[in-house]
Amino acid sequence: MKKSQVTVGIIGFGTVGTGVARILLEKKDELKRRLGFPLVLSKIADIDIKKKRDIKLPKGILTNNANEILDDPEIDIVVELIGGVHPAKDFIIKAIKNGKHVVTANKALLATEGSNIFAIAKKNKIELGFEASVAGGIPIIKVVREALVGNRIKTVYGIINGTSNYILTKMTEEKVEFSQALKEAQALGYAEADPTFDVEGIDSAHKLAILASLSFGIPISFSKIYTEGITKITPLDIDFASELGYKIKLLAIAKQGNGEVELRVHPTMLPKEYLISNVDRVFNAVYIDADAVGASLYYGRGAGEMPTASAVMSDIADIARNITTGSVGRIQGIGMPEKPNVRIKHTDDIVSRYYFRFWAIDKPGVLSKIAGILGAHNISIESVIQKVRKKEKAVPLVMMTHEARERDVRAALKKIDKLPLVSGKATVIRVEAREE
Ligand code: HSE
Repeated sequence: MKKSQVTVGIIGFGTVGTGVARILLEKKDELKRRLGFPLVLSKIADIDIKKKRDIKLPKGILTNNANEILDDPEIDIVVELIGGVHPAKDFIIKAIKNGKHVVTANKALLATEGSNIFAIAKKNKIELGFEASVAGGIPIIKVVREALVGNRIKTVYGIINGTSNYILTKMTEEKVEFSQALKEAQALGYAEADPTFDVEGIDSAHKLAILASLSFGIPISFSKIYTEGITKITPLDIDFASELGYKIKLLAIAKQGNGEVELRVHPTMLPKEYLISNVDRVFNAVYIDADAVGASLYYGRGAGEMPTASAVMSDIADIARNITTGSVGRIQGIGMPEKPNVRIKHTDDIVSRYYFRFWAIDKPGVLSKIAGILGAHNISIESVIQKVRKKEKAVPLVMMTHEARERDVRAALKKIDKLPLVSGKATVIRVEAREE
């Protein structure tokens, strides 16, 4: 049924919820002019409706009962902004079953339960907007799903966690340790009180799972993503990387080729001259290489009240347009095929260039021993740095490799780490760069 106005209810009145309410209320007239019909925010639900928020609300709009939105026959679109899996999942499923369209920013939920939720939405002919779930204010879902629809995407990689990018930027610019940079990020409110999801790469992997599914038509494969965070990165490695012409970024990488897709999140050395290497602080960027358009890069704010609200608003407007024109379902959800014929590459089979840093005793024969083990595992060395000389003491020994296979690298490092002249475990950073 076509409607002349669209009514919205928001569940979750935190940072992003406040931003979305602000846009809907303060830009009411502009939105009506742009859309050609009014968008009405009728209810906002949150467990805490007493908290002071810097926004003027119409009387009676707040409720602490989400069911007042989920069961309200007047509400067309439910915006879920509470985050986490429970009770967000139950609210979304109830909204769908009650015939309401849904907009969510919930990357953790979609990455882990998304296949089921998208299937339920499709079955019930409900639209599920998720623009805000990946890279905040950057309209990357719209880019992949609509703007690049005529492309076969080969590579998508991105800096999609602002907190870890802020920390790495601090460590690079001020030569401080990870723990100090993290404290500063927390003091500024960038990192969560429990920053595990940000610094261990989990938040990036959630977003990559969604982006890769959309880009390659594969099931949402969060559990198959190789994930490594930034907690072991040191200023020493950042310095060596710089000397070699690279910056270290937490990169979420998805590549398609030969019927396989590889998915990984880890600290990555990128040539300084790449545009994405200069995406610093809390900014995000997504690089896409596709067959028709070639290489393209999308840059912007990946988190925060208004950038994320901007993305949520884009979904609300799209769905509202479809409701008022009788074209619900115009754009497919995540577009997963029933029987995907693409395999997720095993981590062991990933091919990359590598940076290794060992602590080695500066004695004759150490270098040849390490090089010998690498050679025996088909790992070819591109360059070596060893500068300091402290007799009988361990000094950093850095090696860059040509392309090598992850399985061979692990086997070689297992042997090298056991050498009596090498102390501790090697630091390994993968390099994302075209071989010249
Ligand atoms: N914790 C996330 C980040 C927030 O730092 O990017 C946005 O998803």
